[in-house]
Amino acid sequence: MSISKIGVVGAGQMGSGIGQVAATVGLDVVFYDNPQALERATSGIEKSLSKFVEKEKISDADKSDAISRISYSKNLDALKDVDLVVEAIVEDLNVKTELFEQLDRLVKPEAILVSNTSSISITKLAAATKRPDKVAGMHFMNPVPLMKLVEGIRGIQTSDETWGSVRALSEKMGKTFVESVKDSPGFIVNRILMPMINEAVFTLHEGIASVEDIDQSMKLGTNQPMGPLTLADFIGLDTCLAIMNVLHEGLGDSKYRPCPLLRTYVDAGWVGRKSGRGFYNYEG
Ligand SMILES: NC(=O)c1ccc[n+]([C@@H]2O[C@H](COP(=O)([O-])OP(=O)(O)OC[C@H]3O[C@@H](n4cnc5c(N)ncnc54)[C@H](O)[C@@H]3O)[C@@H](O)[C@H]2O)c1
Repeated sequence: MSISKIGVVGAGQMGSGIGQVAATVGLDVVFYDNPQALERATSGIEKSLSKFVEKEKISDADKSDAISRISYSKNLDALKDVDLVVEAIVEDLNVKTELFEQLDRLVKPEAILVSNTSSISITKLAAATKRPDKVAGMHFMNPVPLMKLVEGIRGIQTSDETWGSVRALSEKMGKTFVESVKDSPGFIVNRILMPMINEAVFTLHEGIASVEDIDQSMKLGTNQPMGPLTLADFIGLDTCLAIMNVLHEGLGDSKYRPCPLLRTYVDAGWVGRKSGRGFYNYEG
């Protein structure tokens, strides 16, 4: 199916980036979220596109064209005629399931529904709809305009046609598509990344090394562009904890238990950059 108009539900860190990139490659984009989030997304997209103009990656006209293709709505009905919806709301199975039920009733029968979930089962989300063959995962990386990867997740019910459309859309958006052909907790990236971040938190929790030395070790010792604790602050410690819980419950192995210190930081509201404090302090 050819995709020319997409809906993005959830205009936060991820949703706004996904919508921005889609509009930049010529797709019409409709965002749905609350008014404050939509306002933040509008200014965030403007700022991000301006940086691309400054770096001469796109022209001023490209920026205006992209902006003109984006609309914002506080009403989910605005997504009625889209060809595909990307869901990028909070990482919570119940909230996502309810949204998929609603979207299924709203959008045209041939429309595809994809989730940007980091870890939740696509098969479960698909089962909440009457079009499970038209549901798949498109896991974008943060920040979406800069990161090259889309991890496709195939639910057990996802059809070949839907899979082909999702791959084509990822490539149109300038991304490299990798296939997680089994819908297993954490898929590929977070199955590997999150236990590493969790182990870094254990290393801190057990007093083995400081925050700075843990990050320095992994940066200089294993050639990663940023250390695992810096990366956790970027992702959001609440999201990291949610993913570890999914791995722990879904795979049933104690090696995936979240570090108590990760829970404590989330309990304290120290969830990383977005709250001003995580393993590092971003205030002032
Ligand atoms: N942060 C990352 O690095 C990252 C990377 C890949 C995937 N993800 C996934 O992307 C999704 C979004 O993460 P984020 O970091 O953008 O979160 P975020 O908190 O920045 O944004 C979430 C947005 O969803 C909105 N929202 C919540 N419930 C909603 C509902 N029922 N209807 C409409 N809007 C609703 C919120 O108002 C908010 O604007 C999650 O599933 C997360 O696991 C995150």
